[in-house]
Amino acid sequence: MDVTMPDAFELLKTRRSVKPIELSGPGPTAAERDALLTIAARVPDHGKLVPWRFVVFEQDARLRAGEAIADAFVKDHPDANADQVEFEKRRLARAPLVVAVVSRAAPHVKIPEWEQVLSAGAAAMNLVLAAHALGFAANWITEWYAYDRRVCAALGLQDHEKIAGFIHIGRPAHPPEDRPRPALADIVTLFGT
Ligand SMILES: Cc1cc2nc3c(=O)[nH]c(=O)nc-3n(C[C@H](O)[C@H](O)[C@H](O)COP(=O)(O)O)c2cc1C
Repeated sequence: MDVTMPDAFELLKTRRSVKPIELSGPGPTAAERDALLTIAARVPDHGKLVPWRFVVFEQDARLRAGEAIADAFVKDHPDANADQVEFEKRRLARAPLVVAVVSRAAPHVKIPEWEQVLSAGAAAMNLVLAAHALGFAANWITEWYAYDRRVCAALGLQDHEKIAGFIHIGRPAHPPEDRPRPALADIVTLFGT
């Protein structure tokens, strides 16, 4: 497989997400996955609290996690047909590797919870960037089940933990088209002018 690793600045200028369904295998090897997660953990973290952790879904475990998603879906939609239930079951099986970035933010005497949450976002984005830098593509999504406490509990989250995102990682079927980006004039203020 021809894997090209883009220059860092070029990557940051051009990276964009690829839909989970368009992320095929082979996914990262175990060593590559650990390298990606090591980079994801290398983010600013006020107070060195490590207010995030990762849950990895690969191989058959993706469908076992999908059972929990499908179970919650069926409880809420008892009339769902088999195709709909199968779709839910396969939610985490679209890409070869899915990583849940879990925020462990909690009240702290000195460090605002908001800053802990931001650090989880930084970890998620670092994981996305690292995946692209290694020649994969990625997509950061949450979807309904990230906010469903039954699913979260089945995935091993404690009550105070939250899913910052499910980062889907795989090989892009084709280069994605870009989407419009905000004009700097709309988002930048030169203070004092
Ligand atoms: C926290 C978070 C949650 C997201 N959840 C979803 C989602 O559930 N479904 C979706 O289609 N996109 C979701 N997105 C957006 C995708 O990541 C989207 O593909 C991305 O914004 C595309 O931008 P890019 O081209 O710069 O990567 C989410 C983004 C963030 C930051």
